[in-house]
Amino acid sequence: MAYYWFKAFHLIGIVVWFAGLFYLVRLFVYHAEASQMPEPAQTILKEQYQLMEKRLYNIITTPGMVVTVAMAAGLIYTEPEVLKASWLHIKLAFVALLLIYHHWCGRIIKKLAQDECHWSGQQFRVFNEAPTVLLVAIVLLAIFKNDLPLDATTGLIGTLVVAFAIAIQLYARKRRKDREKQAQQDLMVS
Ligand code: HEM
Repeated sequence: MAYYWFKAFHLIGIVVWFAGLFYLVRLFVYHAEASQMPEPAQTILKEQYQLMEKRLYNIITTPGMVVTVAMAAGLIYTEPEVLKASWLHIKLAFVALLLIYHHWCGRIIKKLAQDECHWSGQQFRVFNEAPTVLLVAIVLLAIFKNDLPLDATTGLIGTLVVAFAIAIQLYARKRRKDREKQAQQDLMVS
């Protein structure tokens, strides 16, 4: 029974952790784009984003990560046999990358607060795709385990998912460019 409890809270932790990571990097995008605003809007927005990023990281994202890892430790403690499974070893390699990403986000928060991070909004948008890739890889491994199908159908589904993600990015980029063009035209008219 303990195993199910650990697994349930492992999954809850994952949802919280990823919600935090996705929203956090969205805030980085807005924070970076606030640099193009005139004063005093720029200072006000940057201070607000800084506060939101810190709270989100400390109150949601990091506790989500801690719960995920603590519950995973519980799962392994109650079922140590699972440690022999090769799918878990590969999964742990991806989880290690995710932990590096999490730590990197913490450093970015500090750099943004000191105005020392010069990434553009577009760069943060690309950075925001990394946890999606890790999420897909880790969940597929956790579900299929050693039977992860690597045939043509899976390749096709993977390609479609990637193509869909690229299409969303391109559409968002086009909308952003249209908005910037419109704002410039409005400025010229007034
Ligand atoms: C320290 C890191 C982690 C360890 C040691 C770990 C370990 C485990 C273990 C032992 C199970 C039980 C497998 C079973 O009952 O068959 C499990 C389940 C699961 N894990 Fe993790 N996990 C970790 C992180 C993650 C992360 C970051 C994600 C998602 C991104 C994730 C997604 C899942 C899912 C979806 C399941 C349910 C699989 C199922 O019941 O079929 N895990 N994990």
